[in-house]
Amino acid sequence: MNTSHTAQERATPSDARLWPLTTAIDERGRLIIGGCDVAELARQYGTPLYLFDETTIRDACRAWRAALAASYPGETAVHYASKALLNTALARLIADEGLGLDVVSGGELYVALRAGFPPHRIHMHGNAKTRAELEQALAAGIGQIIIDNLDELDLLANLTAHRLSPQPVALRIAPDIATDTHAHIQTGHATSKFGLPLDALDAAAERLHAAPGLRLVGLHAHVGSQLFDLEPYAAEIDVLLDAAARLRDRHSLTIQDINAGGGMGVPYTADQQPLDRYACAARLGEALAAGCRQRGFPLLRLVIEPGRSIIARAGVALYTIVATKNLPQTRFLHIDGGMGDNIRPALYGARYAAVLAEQANAPAEEVVEIAGRYCESGDVLIHAIPLPRARVGDILAVPVAGAYTLSMASTYNLTPRPAVVMVHSGVARLIQRRETYDDLIARDI
Ligand SMILES: Cc1ncc(COP(=O)(O)O)c(C=O)c1O
Repeated sequence: MNTSHTAQERATPSDARLWPLTTAIDERGRLIIGGCDVAELARQYGTPLYLFDETTIRDACRAWRAALAASYPGETAVHYASKALLNTALARLIADEGLGLDVVSGGELYVALRAGFPPHRIHMHGNAKTRAELEQALAAGIGQIIIDNLDELDLLANLTAHRLSPQPVALRIAPDIATDTHAHIQTGHATSKFGLPLDALDAAAERLHAAPGLRLVGLHAHVGSQLFDLEPYAAEIDVLLDAAARLRDRHSLTIQDINAGGGMGVPYTADQQPLDRYACAARLGEALAAGCRQRGFPLLRLVIEPGRSIIARAGVALYTIVATKNLPQTRFLHIDGGMGDNIRPALYGARYAAVLAEQANAPAEEVVEIAGRYCESGDVLIHAIPLPRARVGDILAVPVAGAYTLSMASTYNLTPRPAVVMVHSGVARLIQRRETYDDLIARDI
């Protein structure tokens, strides 16, 4: 569908860095993204609707690749962490931008392969990969399996015992690094469920020596998500390099990759600052180059796995206000979505901004609660947000909705999951249709 409004574009939203790069507000105050009138799309495709701006996704992919390449003299690679969001169109776009892909399940691997993503650029993570998932990854010939624990290592050793060409693997280390982020998204501490404790490294090395079907190529860690402080990344690189030196010195095992994981933060509300990609890449590059030099390694390949910082800003969630409730102390705007399509506020108190898509630059007149439609009191998408006076039927647009929303979506209350549209140059393309009631019973016998 072509809903091009480029000629009328006038202004950008006041907190422009929360919105996709192509966002504008026309002279009537209507929100325009990717050259498309957002409210028109909401009415055409129905709500809740998730809209993704192709330009913003491609720009983030290119910026990470360029930042890393400019910050480190050795080889670099950027893998998109597909847990943030994956569908066929996105897998193709990420492949087209030359990134690798991280998957954490057979389902993500299936979607990626079916979309034609090159298997050698896929890494598989997970603390509880099943035998079937490992077999699926081995059969596909993916680039790396990132081993999380000794049981997985033993199982993989068994599954690959008779292979002619060994499967490249990396070891995920729990580096024992604390981060300043929500407890649910801290992953690098010693008691994390993820990764091998450092004192299991020697055992892992011995088992790898006894596993002819496996070839160790890298060490990995991921210290947490939604991080803004760069020092945990530098500390993590040091821990990984110490581990690499131990593997070399005690076990004659050499690696090529140091994988620093993802976790780079994005602002969700106007009071948060973005993380500077170049500063982040520079800190990583500097730590790895210096660390390799100090320990007598050649320049190892630097790999990162951003998810949120590639897809979050590109996505905007659109809802219809279906009812209101006025109380003396507050006013609720009831929307037709909520925790089923975005669990983050209920799960870890995530905060969001929002505008009315047809009054995008109108001054705020009241402070309201945006109440989700799901039968949980905790389903309040946004607390205490200032908005112009909203009416039933208005379209609410929520920015920075691209990551960990649809990928965590459920059919709670048997509510179908939203449709997804990609916008670019005034053209909107449906890339995932809305779930139907028939989909809801498709598995029932
Ligand atoms: C191993 C690993 N890599 C990458 C990521 C992506 O993190 P983010 O989306 O915060 O960049 C995660 C997130 O949990 C992860 O566990």
